[in-house]
Amino acid sequence: MRVLGIESSCDETAAAIVEDGGRVIADVVASQVAVHAPYGGVVPELASRAHLANVAPVIAKALEAVPGGLDAIDGIAVTRGPGLLGALLVGMSAGKAMAWSRNLPIVYVDHLVAHLLAVYLQRDLQPGQEVATPEMPFVALLASGGHTAIYEVRAHDDVELIGQTRDDAAGEAFDKAAKLLGLGYPGGPVIDRLAKLGDRSKVELPLPMPSTKRLDFSFSGLKTAIARHVEKHGAPKDERELADVCAAFQHAVVEVLARKSVAACKQRRIPRLVLAGGVAANAGLRARTTQLATSVGVKVFVPPIASCTDNAAMIAYAGYLRLARGERDALDVTAYSKSPD
Ligand code: KG4
Ligand code: ZN
Repeated sequence: MRVLGIESSCDETAAAIVEDGGRVIADVVASQVAVHAPYGGVVPELASRAHLANVAPVIAKALEAVPGGLDAIDGIAVTRGPGLLGALLVGMSAGKAMAWSRNLPIVYVDHLVAHLLAVYLQRDLQPGQEVATPEMPFVALLASGGHTAIYEVRAHDDVELIGQTRDDAAGEAFDKAAKLLGLGYPGGPVIDRLAKLGDRSKVELPLPMPSTKRLDFSFSGLKTAIARHVEKHGAPKDERELADVCAAFQHAVVEVLARKSVAACKQRRIPRLVLAGGVAANAGLRARTTQLATSVGVKVFVPPIASCTDNAAMIAYAGYLRLARGERDALDVTAYSKSPD
């Protein structure tokens, strides 16, 4: 079965084709970073308009990867939420129009569940090669621009939320810290790069909610701590000072994410941990989590970066699991901005 996935929940317009078992045949992502960068964050109305302009060309590009194009597609999967409503409606409308006109089955996918399953995507493989994937159940840390949470994943349709942020998401904290430091948007990749060059001991920042008994997070205090640091010492004078602040900030975020994810594995007695979401692209997080987890016998599964950040291959795969069982959704379904409880 070959599934076309469409994703438009935030600031990437994406289309992908995935075959049985999560094999990625096409994966096209049109980023809107340049549209939103001048504002230091995503502007919903501009996102909807950019999705409108991008959605048809992005789908056409993905379909070029299979002979026969849309004729060779067996089903469609589209993100239903959570995300920006106007943005989601663009992808959903495109998917519904194709499903209706070609009489193809369509299913709607929860963006967060798709992030959790992205670890099963098989990319750029030689014939016969397979990537190691976790057995279920596994514990997953999902850290992105809009969400930061820990889940126990027992099946694609049996996912339990076991901890989440009380305020900012980890990616949002990266983006806000970068804005305060004048580093532009999105902040995660820039801070990640600078943190490698800095000395975190030069800047004192508190570890936010370090107790591993509780599996919830709070990152808004860290943003205030950066603002205070800038007030007290002035904006970093050179790249070296900037790198020190980035190193201290990244350490604080990463340490709490890593400790609590590993603590969740211990609490649930599950020796498998999956990293998901845009922040899982962070080199510090990947390294520290792997180190901490390995020391207590937990195996960490870190998907390639293209599977961590927003993409439509994960949507196609999550949809494939339902389509393959014969499930179909109706055309009169609308988007949601927040996942249902
Ligand atoms: O999952 P994603 O692509 O979109 C959402 O669903 O939110 O995540 C985007 C977030 C942004 O906040 C971005 O700054 C962050 O992921 N991010 C990173 C890195 N790459 C992207 N954060 C830390 N380090 C990175 N290398
Ligand atoms: Zn996402």
